[in-house]
Amino acid sequence: MKQLRYFIVLIFVSILSLVARADEGMWLPLLLQQLNEKQMKAMGMKISAKDIYSINNGSLKDAILQFGGGCTGEVISSKGLVLTNHHCGFDAIQNHSTLDHNYIRDGYWAANYGQELPNPGLSVTFIVRIEDISKQVLSGVTSAMSERERQSAIDRNIAEIRKSAQKESYQDILVRPFFEGNQYFLFVTETYKDIRLVGAPPSSIGNFGKDTDNWVWPRHTGDFSIFRIYAGKDNKPAAYSANNVPYVPKRSLAISLDGVAENDFTMVFGFPGRTTEYLHSAAVEQIMTVNDPAKIAIREKALNIIDGFMRKDEQIKIQYAAKYAGIQNAYKKWQGEVLGLTKTDAVGKKKMYEAEFQKRVNANPGWTEEYGRLLNDLEYLYKELKPFGLARDYFNEIVSKIELFAIASRLNSIVGAYEDNGEVGGGKDFPEKLASTRSSLEALFDEYNVAVDKKLFEVLMEMYMKDQAGSKISSFLRNQLEGAGQNNLAKPNPPVFDAGDFTKKEFVMSLLNKPAEEMVKTIKESKLIGFYNEMLRTYQEETQIRLNEMQGRINRLQRFYMQAQMEVFREKTFYPDANSTMRITYGKVKGYEARDAVAFDYYTYLDGVMEKYKPGDYEFDVPEKLRTLYRNKDYGQYGQKGKMPVCFIAANHTTGGNSGSPALDAYGNLIGLNFDRVWEGTMSDINYDPSICRNIMVDARYVLFIIDKFAGAGHLVKEMKLVHPKRK
Ligand code: ARG
Ligand code: GLU
Repeated sequence: MKQLRYFIVLIFVSILSLVARADEGMWLPLLLQQLNEKQMKAMGMKISAKDIYSINNGSLKDAILQFGGGCTGEVISSKGLVLTNHHCGFDAIQNHSTLDHNYIRDGYWAANYGQELPNPGLSVTFIVRIEDISKQVLSGVTSAMSERERQSAIDRNIAEIRKSAQKESYQDILVRPFFEGNQYFLFVTETYKDIRLVGAPPSSIGNFGKDTDNWVWPRHTGDFSIFRIYAGKDNKPAAYSANNVPYVPKRSLAISLDGVAENDFTMVFGFPGRTTEYLHSAAVEQIMTVNDPAKIAIREKALNIIDGFMRKDEQIKIQYAAKYAGIQNAYKKWQGEVLGLTKTDAVGKKKMYEAEFQKRVNANPGWTEEYGRLLNDLEYLYKELKPFGLARDYFNEIVSKIELFAIASRLNSIVGAYEDNGEVGGGKDFPEKLASTRSSLEALFDEYNVAVDKKLFEVLMEMYMKDQAGSKISSFLRNQLEGAGQNNLAKPNPPVFDAGDFTKKEFVMSLLNKPAEEMVKTIKESKLIGFYNEMLRTYQEETQIRLNEMQGRINRLQRFYMQAQMEVFREKTFYPDANSTMRITYGKVKGYEARDAVAFDYYTYLDGVMEKYKPGDYEFDVPEKLRTLYRNKDYGQYGQKGKMPVCFIAANHTTGGNSGSPALDAYGNLIGLNFDRVWEGTMSDINYDPSICRNIMVDARYVLFIIDKFAGAGHLVKEMKLVHPKRK
């Protein structure tokens, strides 16, 4: 009886949680008024959905941009000043750095327009307008169609829409599927290509705490950098030119000097990259128990090797810093993900949700007919997929860590271009391919050390062979790797390294200058290419073909499942998974309980920076100037009651791509800059849970304090509009 009552309560709680929870969701700006405005206002928002997104009048969205493809940024002055994260601007900062002018270490501050540094290849994209084009895209599409027929009907419709869509000559059109292909939206965009570096703090502020603090709260990082958009004299997008002028934006954000208090309303505007919130429980279980652990184990070995070399060799430390950080970032995130999914019993919750889904479907004959077998079929397919998904992860993770394979793959692409449509086929792509390969290999070799790579090869290829079924490794590969034939996998002898000089920049570059025929012949006959292609072929034949076919079936079922969920749970408001399009998420400022007896506050202060300070340390050193400002409590207008706020957290639902996103207050003023999530909550990509999912932001006042007081770049602050929304 007691158990039954417990069960009923559980069901009730689970049904309640089907109704869209405050905080969860990445919403499309054009649907805010319809879906979210009421709730946002109830949570404290003081402006309207139209103030956030409007196509007829200026709105906040005009100040938000996609930065460099993978991050978000926002305009903060009427002269085109852009704020984003330090880690988003890092490439540019690194490219301008030399041993004499080490902007990574020392920071950089342009004193005037003339000192703002151009960055070829860097661009920012604004969204002019968003349209729901689902009806047009799906017109003529029927359920009787095969996937291929369906896709070509959709492609034809999209081509038509593109042709007739209204846009200016300097604008672009982007069409994206949403809800697993059940809906389609069109984006008219404007891309500016002359983006100059204006300012960046030293890494000891912009990346304070580095890998140790990454994905962790409490955090004390001033993760910001500043750029400026330049436009042609007509204020339109233009390629770089010394004659370009600072862009005059349609809108720029005002910056609040008042900070936030617990339970204050916040929203984050930006371009989240990818989430998978509507998976079957079997898929979530696989991620937790199969895929994440495998990827973590592989990266752990790789990181240990690279770290060992970096600690001993200053040159390697510089060469491998960015690579190491990249490998480490996901490695650490996946661990948090498994932890959070386990802690919140994500699989158990999904199963309850599925039970409720099935119950409703079974009670409705129409649905039973259409959706009755969906969950079973998905579960069955995931079981079938499991070994193939693991093989994919092994292949991708290992091949991408061994750079000899990256060299092989680039050389392969030259052969491909030569044979398909190069000098043989009479095409014109070959010289282009050769040039781009030359420059990408040049860059690769600048950050390459053969001793590191050899060790990675030795250790990771051993995992590749020992951990996988024999069929995944061809006998050719096995013979090559076992070398002397001692079956001694612990020390495979990598003959691919010893035969030929493909690990040497001079050799490869001079090879690429040889006559095409000779070059291609040398590449094709090399041991390296032989080995690599055999590995690739085995992977394709044993894994990829089947995997793609299964994934196609899963995608189709997942599309039906999405449609079914939206039909069956009418009371729930659904948001589409992130797909690098513009979204808004909102939630309140609050701390969280990480584990039993460990509760985190929602604000950090400069005092915490000083607590973490380790003189001369690689991660926790603090610049002298900052220590002096702290000692003198010299915070100017940016301090709060004698303290300097640094970072804060809130329950906004964010993901990778939201880096650099503005955190806005109830009035739409900038209060902070998003840059991370808390470790326990990184599973929000798969299953958001309001108890532990928090995003991490650097306080706008800390950004201003560093610019003004630390860097002495007060002229930049003068360009901005500072406000006091809480002073009445
Ligand atoms: N974890 C943050 C984001 O994915 C910040 C990454 C940059 N910082 C670092 N220490 N690697 O992606
Ligand atoms: N640091 C992430 C990025 O680069 C944002 C943090 C997250 O994944 O939530 O996009």
